[in-house]
Amino acid sequence: MLGNTFGRIFRITTCGESYGIGKGSGLSVIVDGVPPGLNIPLEYIQNDLDKRRPGQSPLDSPRKETDQVALFAGVAQDGVTTGAPLGLIIYNVDTQDIHIDQYRDYKDLVRPGHAEYCFFLKYGEAGDWCGAGRASGRETVGRVAGGSVAKFILEREGIEILGYTKESAGVTAKEMSFEEIKKNYRKNDINCPDLEAAKKMREGILKIKDMGDTAGGVVEIVAHNIPAGLGEPVFDKLNATIAHGLMSIGAVKGIEFGVGFRCGSMKGSEFNDHPYLDQGKVRFKTNNAGGFLGGISNGEDIVVRIAVKPTPTVSVEQPSINMVTMTEEKLSPITRRDATICGRIYPVAEAMIAAAILDALYLARAYDALAKLDDKWMKLKAPKKSS
Ligand SMILES: Cc1cc2nc3c(=O)[nH]c(=O)nc-3n(C[C@H](O)[C@H](O)[C@H](O)COP(=O)(O)O)c2cc1C
Repeated sequence: MLGNTFGRIFRITTCGESYGIGKGSGLSVIVDGVPPGLNIPLEYIQNDLDKRRPGQSPLDSPRKETDQVALFAGVAQDGVTTGAPLGLIIYNVDTQDIHIDQYRDYKDLVRPGHAEYCFFLKYGEAGDWCGAGRASGRETVGRVAGGSVAKFILEREGIEILGYTKESAGVTAKEMSFEEIKKNYRKNDINCPDLEAAKKMREGILKIKDMGDTAGGVVEIVAHNIPAGLGEPVFDKLNATIAHGLMSIGAVKGIEFGVGFRCGSMKGSEFNDHPYLDQGKVRFKTNNAGGFLGGISNGEDIVVRIAVKPTPTVSVEQPSINMVTMTEEKLSPITRRDATICGRIYPVAEAMIAAAILDALYLARAYDALAKLDDKWMKLKAPKKSS
């Protein structure tokens, strides 16, 4: 399996599967590019992992994982980073035979909407059949732990990143400022800061769950206080590396920045974000572009939405194919799964955006160190620290 690393300077490399090799299995991340001298409390990383942890609500998979993180490399005795790669590990605990046997029962069948068919194509019968292996939502544990390190470093620069459910079960949250999102962040299990909309979303999702089915949705992520000038103009645009990070998360089917696809029905004069001077600083009156010009951050909030497909595992019988006998068969209903992925995917999205932004920040600072620009232009790039 190739491609288990994300990033160029700040890099996360993950390993681990849904169930793995039985007792003692787990998920791990190696984080490269951590500055020395940081005291990153493990509780900080644990807090992010707890946002993703299953079994906390009727909307989640009933799988009971503690998702306790342990640090095994990269800090000195006093817990302070040395500049060496950080190693973090999270053990799987809910790996009883009863669940593994269920996966064994249908290990040769493809689950509609899941990754098995393509795994058979690439890995044959040697592919991991237990809980979808690295195509499981469980794979994202390592991303969250690694991304949390990026978030910690970005917070020291005044940068904050929040994700929330914008839409699910036919209900859409109202437009909200960053401060409003922050105020009601994680106030409910669908993590929708529009509390009225959250109530209706939950009701809708639970109705869909009662029918044995699952719900999709849209998750919006906002990155606040971003310095202008991050991202490279051609292949490594910041919106491109963010899109890479987000589109690499299972179940993400679409992505848009700012007004996104709505730009197709707008006129240029409507879409253009008009610049103005705010106490000598360049700002934009609107943020239709979602914080980018030419793929480079323009200093406004980065606003990105991902389309999250309904969980593929459903509790209704579905047509399937047995890939070993090459016969058509029926796949029986499966109960252990998330009723919607929205309430668990937002920390994964926050993590991938944090990793992409920190990586771009490293590159921008390295470039600035050598570029000989007039002081006037350098000042434009200084991070904004106030809200
Ligand atoms: C946090 C998270 C939780 C997920 N939970 C489930 C689940 O309970 N059941 C399931 O079938 N898929 C779940 N998925 C989705 C699958 O991982 C994903 O659909 C699969 O890898 C196929 O990839 P694709 O949907 O991008 O084609 C989850 C994904 C994420 C990110």
